Amino acid sequence: MRVLITGVDGYLGWPLAHALARRGHLVAGIDALLRREWVAEMGSQSATPILDIDSRLTVFREVHGEDLRFVPGNVCNYDLVEEAIRDFMPDCVVHLGQMPSAPYSMIDAHHAVFTHQNNIVGTLNLLFALRDLAPNAHLVKLGTMGEYGTPNIDIPEGFFDIEYRGRRDRLPFPRQPNSMYHLTKVHDSANIHFACRVWGLTCTDVMQGVVFGTRIDALNGDDRLLTRFDVDQAFGTVINRFCAQAVIGMALSPYGRGHQRRGFLSLRDSIQCLALIIENPPDGAGEYRILNQFHETFDVYDLALVVQGTARDMGIDVEIKTVENPRIEAERHYYNPDHQKLFDLGYRPTRTVREEIRETLEDLGRFAERIRLCRGAILPSIRWRERKPRPSPVGGF
Ligand SMILES: NC(=O)c1ccc[n+]([C@@H]2O[C@H](COP(=O)([O-])OP(=O)(O)OC[C@H]3O[C@@H](n4cnc5c(N)ncnc54)[C@H](O)[C@@H]3O)[C@@H](O)[C@H]2O)c1
Repeated sequence: MRVLITGVDGYLGWPLAHALARRGHLVAGIDALLRREWVAEMGSQSATPILDIDSRLTVFREVHGEDLRFVPGNVCNYDLVEEAIRDFMPDCVVHLGQMPSAPYSMIDAHHAVFTHQNNIVGTLNLLFALRDLAPNAHLVKLGTMGEYGTPNIDIPEGFFDIEYRGRRDRLPFPRQPNSMYHLTKVHDSANIHFACRVWGLTCTDVMQGVVFGTRIDALNGDDRLLTRFDVDQAFGTVINRFCAQAVIGMALSPYGRGHQRRGFLSLRDSIQCLALIIENPPDGAGEYRILNQFHETFDVYDLALVVQGTARDMGIDVEIKTVENPRIEAERHYYNPDHQKLFDLGYRPTRTVREEIRETLEDLGRFAERIRLCRGAILPSIRWRERKPRPSPVGGF
């Protein structure tokens, strides 16, 4: 299969490219290398030392005997997207090339507008290019479980049956996201649904939980293939931040009461699920398939306890100290999302969250010095309600 990955230089994109090449697929990628700049803007760096893009491409060829056909550039540039689709004629496009951080999108108006432009325009460009040049290709789009928010009822996989004033219908489940970033994913979902209904495109919208961890098998223990691993307040996801804090002996810092519940899955399982989705497209043209992608749900404070306990077994003592919650969100709530469809496709979780945390801590131990350099970027300063004065590095509106 010919698979085009937007965002191929990112946390998920880079290991996905390797995993797909190992499974015999031909891989192309687009990336504007923005994530590297955003993390630097947050005063941080990847805890894992990652190669520059040219070296990554050289190593890819060495390992797989095939080039990763790379297009440097921005998916908000329609001409670039059109040319990439025309040149490569993908069977599948995996769209990861977006700004993925809730706190980053909440810094100020500049960052919120930037996030909306970057994420929504990129998806629109892809939808139009697919409509006009490759209408039979399968679009796999990364959404997030955060699109749903935390309603006080069970969360289905995208759609639910509803009876209202004596009439019945099957409708998209309501979305109540909690950040400007998550809102972009909701808008994307509406646009993608439209493209399936009106243009007959075939798309899978993946409501992904929080991904964590350092390893996938295709990376073979070769440090040149390492994916990035961020620990700062904006780009470090919660388990990644807790693990980083543990290895440098810094107190783990759940926000508020810490009883926010979320779905989690390891990097290894995220890549497994994406490969299954790519290799098992929906049956019919015009289908808009939504999958909830996570392994286990956890309370954030319980996760901190797991990281603390695992670190203790490894001889590291760390405290847990809750910090004032910078976000506006429920700190204790009902949370019961479905996640059956990926299991039906063949997903088999490889590790429990606890086992994966142990491996992550082992891996990060080697990079403790790099994490120490990012220490000042870990705790939250971006608040959902207050504006923090700072110059805009992303330009005007
Ligand atoms: N990592 C997670 O826990 C998680 C959870 C749910 C959903 N997701 C979604 O999965 C996708 C990938 O996440 P990730 O963790 O790999 O993020 P990432 O930031 O590491 O990767 C995204 C990549 O896309 C590139 N990019 C961004 N905007 C671009 C643009 N306009 N043009 C070209 N390239 C652009 C970035 O440079 C980066 O390399 C994102 O859409 C994210 O929202 C991630």
